[in-house]
Amino acid sequence: METGPGDGARALLRILRDLPGEVGVEEPLAPHTTFRIGGKAFALYRPTTSDALGEAVVRARAHGFPWLILGGGSKLLVPDRGFPGLVLSTAALRSWHEEEGILRVGAGVSLARVARRGAWKLAGIPGTVGGAVAMNAGTRYGAIADQLEWVQALLPTGRLHTFSLDECGFSYRDSVFRRLRLPVVAVGVRLQPVQDLSPLLAERARTQPQLPSAGCVFRNPSAGRSAGWMIDQCGLKGMRIGDAVVSERHANFICNLGRARAAEVLELVDEVQDRVARRFGVWLRLELEVVGE
Ligand code: EPU
Repeated sequence: METGPGDGARALLRILRDLPGEVGVEEPLAPHTTFRIGGKAFALYRPTTSDALGEAVVRARAHGFPWLILGGGSKLLVPDRGFPGLVLSTAALRSWHEEEGILRVGAGVSLARVARRGAWKLAGIPGTVGGAVAMNAGTRYGAIADQLEWVQALLPTGRLHTFSLDECGFSYRDSVFRRLRLPVVAVGVRLQPVQDLSPLLAERARTQPQLPSAGCVFRNPSAGRSAGWMIDQCGLKGMRIGDAVVSERHANFICNLGRARAAEVLELVDEVQDRVARRFGVWLRLELEVVGE
């Protein structure tokens, strides 16, 4: 028997009804993540303006609904039971404006597109500009913070603020946006000359798995110490729980062989942390963001 949306989904529909942009109710989140894992959200809203995004956050908070921002879904693990709240997608925030060597882009623009336009250090990193800024994504060549002029984000009041670089509090895979949960809506990127990215992309394809994953699972414990190397040294490549497997190509990736569940990934995470701690005396911390934790 078909059943209609539950109480939570209906309440969110009411809260959002006068705001611009699409709302999907009881939306499966797995297709919105690169891991292809996770249950449904009460509602998924794609605001078309930053004001609407701010207003939706303020209303969700006022009605006691948990909320989260979804960019490219490339560092997220959504629990199998889903998310009992509002997911705000930045997919429609795609403004693109270039002036005097500064590219001003909306949070929903893909990082790959920005890399091609003149940010070679970011080549091959999946996801959107907003997510990359929040977690200060990077490669061994540098992080996105190195190339920013400013970041526009929403304060808890729903008001927009333009953060200077000093105010962004960037550090290794972290920022004030992530720590305080401030949705990034636009950024100013200082462009460099356009380069041929194919050697970098080829290197990435050679050293990283192509199966669905969420990129590196663990943070490198300190400069010069690679989580991938440690996991590899413990002989854990290929270790599998259900359809979740430690990649044979890069040990800091967990891949989804098809029908992996979040619970299997988390079990594998525990096992890897435990084995690495026993061998190296280091407790690996997650880089992956587990929704609801
Ligand atoms: N290594 C192994 N076995 C492995 C993986 C790596 O021995 O399975 C060794 C490598 O041979 C190398 C060292 O570990 O000597 C470092 O490996 P790699 O160059 O792949 O760098 P990483 O520290 O594992 C970081 C980023 C990646 C980024 C790469 C390349 C972190 C946690 N990871 O990985 O970012 O792609 O450098 O620039 O900072 C991501 O954020 O999703 C991500 C994968």
